[in-house]
Order: sequence, then C-alpha cells, then structure tokens
Amino acid sequence: MRSTVLLAAASLLAAANAGVPKTCNDYKIPISFTSVNAVFGLDPFQTDFDVANFVTTIASRTPEISGSVLSPFSLNVTETHTISATFCRPGHGKPDPKVENTVLIATHGLNFDRAYWDPQLDKETYSFLDWVLSQGYSVFYYDRLGVGESEQVSGYVAQLSNQVAILTELTKLVKGGHYVGGTGQPSKTVLVGHGFGGAISSEVVRKNKKLVDGVVLTGFSYNSTHLNGLEFLEAAGVRIAAQQQPGKWRQLDTGYLTTVDLFASVTTFFHDSYYDTEVARYADDHKVPFAVTELLTGHRFAIKPIEFKGVAMILSGKYDFPFCMSDCDGVLENPGASIFSKTKAFKAISLPGTGHGINFHTTAAKSFEKITSFLAENGL
Ligand SMILES: *[C@@H]1O[C@H](CO)[C@@H](O)[C@H](O)[C@H]1NC(C)=O
Ligand SMILES: *[C@@H]1O[C@H](CO)[C@@H](O)[C@H](O)[C@H]1NC(C)=O
Repeated sequence: MRSTVLLAAASLLAAANAGVPKTCNDYKIPISFTSVNAVFGLDPFQTDFDVANFVTTIASRTPEISGSVLSPFSLNVTETHTISATFCRPGHGKPDPKVENTVLIATHGLNFDRAYWDPQLDKETYSFLDWVLSQGYSVFYYDRLGVGESEQVSGYVAQLSNQVAILTELTKLVKGGHYVGGTGQPSKTVLVGHGFGGAISSEVVRKNKKLVDGVVLTGFSYNSTHLNGLEFLEAAGVRIAAQQQPGKWRQLDTGYLTTVDLFASVTTFFHDSYYDTEVARYADDHKVPFAVTELLTGHRFAIKPIEFKGVAMILSGKYDFPFCMSDCDGVLENPGASIFSKTKAFKAISLPGTGHGINFHTTAAKSFEKITSFLAENGL
C-alpha cells in the first residue's frame, strides 16, 4: 500500500517536473559566415498602415507591383554573429567520447524560438527533446539569428541565405565535436527542421551533399502547386512586433513582424479540434517575431533533385495550411520522392489530425515516434 502511494507520488512528480534524465549545456557560439542577401525594396515600416500596404503590394497579381518588395540587387556580405544554442544528451553519466552517438541538429520555424522543441507543457505529449533523448539520441538546438537569445540583427536582413550559412557552420562545428558537452565527434548527424527551419535544412543538404547522414523536414513541402508563401502572411495578419508588445519587443526594429492575435496564430499553425485550446494559448503567449525578409525568402528554397545519399523524411500535418493548403495527402511525395531519389531511404508522412505547428497538436508524440522509428530502421 505504502509503496503504491510512494510510486504514485513519484510518477506525478516526474510528470510535473520535466521528464527524462538528461544533461544539457547552453552555449553562445560566434559564427563567421558569408551569404548573398536579398535586399528589402520598400521603405522601412513606420506603422501598421505600411504593413497593410505591404501585404496588398506583395499579393498583387501584377509582377511589377509585387516585385517591388525585394530589390533586384543582392548583397554579398561576410559577418560574425553569436548564436545561442543548447546541447542535450541522455542521462546523467559522464560523457564518454567512445560511445556511438547520433546528434540531431534542430532548427525551429517562424513564430517560435528553440523552445519549440521542448515547450514547458506536459513533456510526454509535447517535448520532442524528451522523446528523442529517451530513444538514445542527443540534440543540438539553437535560436535562429535575430531570435530569442541569439544576436539581434535587423528584421530587414535576417533571411534564408544567412540562416543557411549559419546552420552550415554550426553543423560543421558539431561534427567536429565542438559544443556537444564533451561527448566528442558524433558518429552520425541528422538535420531536423520545422517550417522555415525545414527550408533552411533542405538548402544546407542541397549545398553540402555529404555533410550529414539524415534530414527530417517537418511542417514542410516541396509541392509548389499547393505551396503559397502568401497564405502564411495573410493568415497571420502580420503586425509590427515592437508596436504590438513594446514591453517584450521594443528592441526589435520594424522589420520584425508577429501575428495579430491568438486566432490568427491558430489559423496559421493549428487545425480544428486537434489541439487543446490551452496549448494554443500557451503557443501564442510564447510566440516569437520573425523578420519580414525571412517571410519573403522562406519559399526561395530550390525545388530540384538533391544529390543526397543519406536518409530523408518529410513529415507534415495532413492539415498543414501554409505548406499544403490544408491537405498534405498525396502532396509531400510529389515531388519529394524525386527530389530525394538518390537517398538510401525516403519516407513522406501526412500525419492525420495535425496542422502546421506539429509539436503543439495532440498528435505530437505520434509524430516524434514516427521520426525516430524511421531513423532507427535506417541505421541512424
Ligand atoms: C561573395 O564573396 C565571397 C568572398 O568575399 C566570394 O568567395 C564569393 O564568390 C562571393 N559570392 C558571390 C555570389 O558573389
Ligand atoms: C502536387 O501534388 C499534386 C497531388 O498529388 C499533384 O497533382 C501535383 O502535380 C503536384 N505538384 C508538383 C509541382 O509536383
């Protein structure tokens, strides 16, 4: 009797205070990189009237009007910025560089920071971090440039090209055994991205065919018939972040945008009854502004075959709105399978009962399980 009570109390505690045994290290990592950056073509926003005008301009059916949003010229820049990252490995033991380990390198998408992978919610349901650690993987996850604790840059500058350059450098460092809590060089590495983070990961693998062993693109699709960069913009009802919540975001320039309200966040990231409304409120309370140039370049990833011989997966919610117009069935493998035709293994999953913000749906744990079983089946 007594031991049952103790056991019950212990398991409650485990549920309340954050999951599986792990050892984590936080890092501030200076990264030098060169990228060819698109240049915002309009005047910087002063007020949300300008943002409203920007939305109708970019959505114009006339290319001369919509094309004015990005300058025809790009800039080749070399910069150094500090990226904030966390590395976690399973258990509390001493790191042993001789033990084989696969490190997942995770890149979050727009409207989130790295906490997307480990929100302060019921860990068994919503923590990608905890699930993959429980399966023996280690995880390196970081805030994109301009987001969270990474260095702030202008919201007219952060974009696909510089985020791709940064992830490339971070991956090289991790592969070299740096910033991995003394665990040494990983035996295998896998890029995992969500949404815009998927676009970044895809570009890194396309440009560096032999850098990693696997890539998992979530909340993502290559199918341009049903992919419309404007849907995100329109559903989110974008507003200037610093003016919406000066208490939190006064330090951001007006290039940083955010969703207009909870319901716009829900339209963009959630689907129907497949989420807990308290979780949607939590996600909206913890939303993170994104750069207008990230929004504008987010769909500029190449849609052509990738000479990648590792393991590739695309997993999106069936009802992903921004990437599949709310129906990913039959869309992810078309052209996903031909893009990854050189891989050792490829799998596309349109996950029932799930929208774009996969990790905040009631199905989150199911998606985590599908990812790690696919990796494990293919030697990762
Ligand atoms: C950008 O500059 C770097 C060095 O400064 C150079 O190696 C690279 O070729 C340039 N790229 C483009 C597209 O101009
Ligand atoms: C997108 O998917 C649909 C449905 O499978 C298919 O008909 C269409 O050709 C695909 N588009 C592209 C560009 O591959």
